[in-house]
Amino acid sequence: MAEIAIIVLAAGKGTRMKSALPKVLHRAAGRSLLAHVLHAAKALNPARLCVVMGPDMAAVEAEAKAVAPDARFAVQAERLGTAHAVSMAKEALQGFSGKVLVLYADAPLVRPETLSALAAAPAAMAVLGFEAANPHGYGRLLLDGSGHIIAIREELDATPQERKVALCNSGVISISSALLWQLLPKIGNANAKGEYYLTDLVGLATAQGEKVALVRCPENEVAGVNDRVQLATIEAEFQSRYRRAHMLAGATLTDPGSVFFSADTVIGQDVVIGPNVVFGPGAGVGNGVEIHAFSHIEGAKVADGARIGPYARLRPGADIGKDAHIGNFVEIKNAAIASGAKANHLSYIGDAKVGAGSNIGAGTITCNYDGYEKHLTDIGANVFVGSNTALVAPVKVGDGVNIAAGSVITKDIPADALALTRPPLEVREGWAAKYREMKKARKAAKARAKE
Ligand code: UD1
Ligand code: CA
Repeated sequence: MAEIAIIVLAAGKGTRMKSALPKVLHRAAGRSLLAHVLHAAKALNPARLCVVMGPDMAAVEAEAKAVAPDARFAVQAERLGTAHAVSMAKEALQGFSGKVLVLYADAPLVRPETLSALAAAPAAMAVLGFEAANPHGYGRLLLDGSGHIIAIREELDATPQERKVALCNSGVISISSALLWQLLPKIGNANAKGEYYLTDLVGLATAQGEKVALVRCPENEVAGVNDRVQLATIEAEFQSRYRRAHMLAGATLTDPGSVFFSADTVIGQDVVIGPNVVFGPGAGVGNGVEIHAFSHIEGAKVADGARIGPYARLRPGADIGKDAHIGNFVEIKNAAIASGAKANHLSYIGDAKVGAGSNIGAGTITCNYDGYEKHLTDIGANVFVGSNTALVAPVKVGDGVNIAAGSVITKDIPADALALTRPPLEVREGWAAKYREMKKARKAAKARAKE
């Protein structure tokens, strides 16, 4: 296929989001709307990628660069319409002569396959259209007898007859760059909104004898975000895509509707995921892993055969080794838990290393923070940490150490030692029975005094 350049329009403020954040930085499935669109764009391997932003959108630029370091940027100072926005990208596309694709940064569901089909349409221009369940607000696609598009009519400019058309403009177009730059200056703003409409390219192209092809896609691929209700709809659509994809790739989801993935979640084969599990960005799970109900995994790696949850929380930097077990109410942050190690109940392991085969008893806490800095807890292999142990970092525990329950470990322990801090246990025989008698007698005396 010929070379492609992609222009992403992201200049809208997104007033209806009622947000301090630019609309395209809002997230669905753990990824910004802009990043979703840029990922789809990048999949086409474009020769140029240009993002058109509004003024004062440094955060948008930073986000785009994080996904597409080669992206170029153009600023549309005044929001005069989609054609005006595209014309801002002219400089960034200087010297490029292939096909240009225009995408909207607030329509994140579009698939790379669909974009490829649009770019490959055998015409100087092609428009991605869809049958809208409710066409209100969209530009309508007007066809000739041979199925080519002759005009796009915006809702406000449409006749009552044209408004009955359900075939709508997604906004995504593909056009040869020669035709684009030739026609763009001819677009005027004599319409209901007084804007320069990109959609007018169709009428102009047709008028000079060019064919404009129609490529259809399902409505749920072009849905846009204008407000937070639509953002939730988009989230739901992404989730149903990812659930399906992970199941088809070999994961068992007991209750798919309650599992939430991020766009970048990686799941191996024969992974069983229970209900109400959430994957934040940056989660990677190996083969044969069990993830039980109500676990939350973000920025964490889980190796083959490990068992997580129920009610486990893996935070960024958690690196769970092969066949390791992380049980209920255990939180792991920035810590490598080596193969076969277990932390089965009620623990916080942060900024730590736990060696292979070690057992972390219930209630063990790594005291990693002194109020100013974070410190490392380094636990060797085959260590037994008794319940309710506090490990005050920085601290190193050698291989094969046994720590008695309830200990506070404040200095390094050499390999194979026993470590314990334990106030002597006092046992006073008969004390409890005497105490009960004394208390009962006192209560009875008080009651008599009241009579
Ligand atoms: C646009 C299409 C309409 C289509 C609909 C699909 C035009 C004239 N109309 O209408 O046919 O059915 O999308 O959702 O193109 N933008 C800028 N700068 C501007 C104006 C817009 O960057 O000056 C960006 C917006 O941020 C947005 C996109 O372009 O991402 C679309 O603009 P919007 O005003 O939402 O167009 P619609 O009226 O929805
Ligand atoms: Ca819109």
